[in-house]
This record gives sequence, structure tokens and C-alpha cells, in this order.
Amino acid sequence: AISDSFAEPQGTGGETHQTAGGDVAVLTTAQGIPVADDQNMLKQGSRGPTLLEDLHFREKIFHFDHERIPERVVHARGYGAHGYFELTESLSDVTRADVLQRVGERVPAFVRFSTVAGSKGSADLARDVRGFAVKLYTQEGNWDIVGNNIPVFFIQDAIKFPDLIHAAKPEPDRDFPQAQTAHDNFWDFISLTPESMHMVMWIMSDRTIPRSLRTIEGFGVHTFRLVNAEGKSTFVKFHWKPKQGLQSVAWNEAVKINGADPDFHRRDLWDAINAGDFPEWELGVQLFDDDFADSFDFDVLDATKLIPEELVPVRIVGRLVLDRVVDNFFAETEQVAFMTHNVPPGVDFSNDPLLQGRNFSYLDTQLKRLGGPNFTHIPINAPKCPMAHFQQDGHMAMRNPVGRANYEPNSWGAAQGGPREDPVRGFTSFAEAADGPRQRVRSESFADHYSQARQFFTSQTPIEQKHIGDALVFELSKVERPDIRSRIVSHLLNIDETLAATVADGLGLALPKAAQAARPTI
Ligand code: HEM
Repeated sequence: AISDSFAEPQGTGGETHQTAGGDVAVLTTAQGIPVADDQNMLKQGSRGPTLLEDLHFREKIFHFDHERIPERVVHARGYGAHGYFELTESLSDVTRADVLQRVGERVPAFVRFSTVAGSKGSADLARDVRGFAVKLYTQEGNWDIVGNNIPVFFIQDAIKFPDLIHAAKPEPDRDFPQAQTAHDNFWDFISLTPESMHMVMWIMSDRTIPRSLRTIEGFGVHTFRLVNAEGKSTFVKFHWKPKQGLQSVAWNEAVKINGADPDFHRRDLWDAINAGDFPEWELGVQLFDDDFADSFDFDVLDATKLIPEELVPVRIVGRLVLDRVVDNFFAETEQVAFMTHNVPPGVDFSNDPLLQGRNFSYLDTQLKRLGGPNFTHIPINAPKCPMAHFQQDGHMAMRNPVGRANYEPNSWGAAQGGPREDPVRGFTSFAEAADGPRQRVRSESFADHYSQARQFFTSQTPIEQKHIGDALVFELSKVERPDIRSRIVSHLLNIDETLAATVADGLGLALPKAAQAARPTI
């Protein structure tokens, strides 16, 4: 039995030794060699020097030295949990995706919530967008819906993403502020990027200071496609609606909570799930066809726009329940690798230039962050359906092809030849026609940057509108350069004149002229 002599040191130097026996396992090295003494390095004589021959110390300290991996380049601070997705309404008319066919069927799910700008050690209640990344382990492979708690995004084209994130993260010379939008670089970039104005209205609203991760919405943001067995495509937007309701805190509460308990959100999620109070979201879809998409005043490929629910109601088709915390934070939450290009047959992409860029970026960043091509062998990332392919080797390969053949086509027959293509069940891309000259261009249909910003602002209650105004004054008051503050107000004038006047007044600025940068079309 374990010795319970914590207070009674038995070592020659007064150190505490606890010994194995009975049900208590023997401590070993990573090679399985039993360890006799874990308190002392191997020494020549009783006072050293220490010997290089100390295999146990060397292995232990070398492993420790390598514990850190790069934190995510964005969304570094996150918290995850396991659960399941259950279909409540079949979508078999619009998609062949197996997971969306049969009502009542469940697949395992893993969800990681995150903030965007702060580092891994930052605080939970920073004013920030929340990531809402869902991995569904379907029978046709992993489907990742890598979304946020806001239905639109700052930029329209993925080539601006590094600039946006550089501007939002701490300023490179001083490395502050760490997890806030309140600084010159961020607002400078925003003021020169009018397409971000709709998103700015959302981030200055109380949505970015949620009461709990259990009370946020989730959005796939981009327009995706669903494709049915006949090859017909329907556009789709994905929504996660919290059964707990949508709740935020007030700014002064956020500031206090952040100081008193920077782990407020992760503790809340952990406690709720362990208490059996499982958070739940409904999956909603907005479905529309190409002709209907053409009837909108904006472009459905523009991620700074949402599809108004009055025009296309959200249809509830499933539920997502989180009912199990992780066994190990690093193994699961830190190593989970979400990628927008993980979609099963029957789900496909639109030409949204932000989505197209993301489809490239996520695989690249996982290769770097998780150290090579075999991150799909890590249990949290491995599919939970049958799989077979000829990819092999590389660092840490744990699932090399078994048998003679590691290529195809081959002549080795069913027993040894390995897997074969399946033209019927396999993934096929929607046969969308494309034409036109090769050029770096932004479509004119992306040019209206203010109408939906205005719709969002005017849809808010008076107290919510006040919070947006207060947030803008607070954030911009941290910006030192008057020209940047003024440029933001010049955009606000195109959204709501009273809001612009309130913010200018709060900052002690003369009202500038309205920005000319973008054309309202509505
Ligand atoms: C990570 C959402 C745009 C690159 C994430 C995560 C989320 C997310 C939720 C965290 C995933 C996790 O919890 O592990 C979004 C949304 C976007 C967007 C909703 C716009 C609609 C972009 C763009 C790019 C990008 C345009 C690049 C072109 C990345 C990278 C990571 C990341 C590199 C780190 C992934 C990792 O290391 O695991 N994004 N993102 N994102 N995103 Fe995005």
C-alpha cells in the first residue's frame, strides 16, 4: 500500500518517498523501466557532481523541456467539451450527407469555444468574438463547422486575414494591449477597411461579452452548399441557437469578472457539464437556391453580410448536446484540429473568397502547430468511421497501411490490394461553372458596407444601442491618434447619424464629413 507518511520524511536528505504496492502502480520511465528513486539525481558521492549516466533524469527533463507546442496563431485561448449531434428533421431532399438523413440518429461531437485575439493565457471575458468550432464524427468522415458567435466577419477576402490579425493582436514593438480591441493599430486598420463596419457594430454590442459560453449563438458565417443525390445544389447558412437563451454581461461586470476570475467561462462550462446541466444548441439552416440568392441586394458570397431571417427563416433540423468534459485538456482541447475543408459528401463550398482562403489556411496551420502530417492519428482528430488510405510514414506514424500494397491501382486483389475508389459514395464536388479573366479583383456586388451595419444597429433596443455607443467611446478613447478616431466617426455617419454624434461628443471631436469609401445600395 502507498505510504501515507507525507509528514515523515524517510530519505537520507529528509525527502518524502511514497512506494508502490497493492493497487498502486509502479512508477516507470517512458520506456517502462521501473523507477526506484524519483527524488534524487544520480551523483558521484553524496554531494555530486551529477552523472550524465542518469537515464531517468535525462528522459524526464528532456520530455519536460518539449512540453510546449505553438499556441494557435488565432483563437489561442479555448475550451472544449464532448457531446453528440442528433438529427430532428431530415434534409434528405437537399443533401446526400449521411448525417442529415435519418431523424433520431446521433453522431459524436466535439466543440471548442474560444476568444480570438488573446494569447492562451489571456482572460475569458475580454471584449472579443467567440469561436464556436464543431467537429461532427460522421459515418462519412469528420465534418467541421468552424464558426463564430457572430454571423458576419471583418473582411471579405482571405488575403487580408494576416493584416487583420496583426492589427488586432498586441502591437509588435510593445506587446500590449494583450486581449483588447482598444488600441491604435486595430482601429487604424478598421478605419481603413470600411467592409468591417457591419462586424464592428456586432463587436461593440454586448455579444462580445457573453455571460457564459452556454449562452452564445454559433454561425457557420459563410454560404455553403448542400448537394443531393441528383447533384442539385441548395445554398445554406448554418446557425447554432442556444437552448439556454442568449445572455451577456454588462461592460462593468465584464471588467470586474475578468479581474476576479479570468477563468470564469471555462469554469462555468466545466461545472455545468459535471453537474449534469448539459448545454444544448439547436442546429438551424437557412436554405435558398441560386435564383433566390440573385434577388438579394447583396452578394451571398460576401462574408460581411447575413441573410435576414425575415427573408429566409431559420429551419431547425437538429440538436447539439455537450455532456462530457475532456479527460485531458492538452490531448483533446489543445490538439483538436479544426479545418473548414472537412466536409462530408453532400456538403460543399461556395465561392466566398474568405472561405476559399480558409480552406487553404487551416491544413497548413495544423501541419505547423501539431508538428507534421500525422495529426489525424491523434485520437481527438481521428475519424470514428471506417477508413483506409495509402498515406504513410512521417513523424509519429501510428497507422501505416497494413499488407503488401501501399499504392493504387494495383494487382493484389481484395485480400492484399487495400482500399478502392467508390464513385457512388465518394465525395464529388458540385459542378459549378466558372469563367472570366484571371485577375485580382473585388466584385462590385461586395461594395455596400453600411446598409447591414445600419440594419443591425437600428434593430437593437435603446439600451443595447446605448451600450454600442458607450463601447465605441470607451474603445476609441484608448486610441491616441485623433485622425483615426475621426475616421471611425466618419464611417459611423453612414450608419447612424445619432450614433456618430454621440461618439464624437463622447470623444470631444468635431463631427467630420461622412466617409465616401463605400456605396450603400439599399
Ligand atoms: C482558428 C473561425 C477566418 C485562419 C479558428 C478557430 C475558429 C475560427 C473558431 C478556432 C478553432 C479551434 O477552436 O481550434 C473563423 C471564422 C472566420 C475565420 C468564423 C471567418 C468567417 C479565418 C481566415 C483565416 C483563418 C480568413 C485565414 C485565411 C485561422 C487559423 C486558425 C484559426 C490559422 C488557427 C487554427 C489552429 O491552429 O487550430 N478560426 N476563422 N480564419 N483560423 Fe479562423
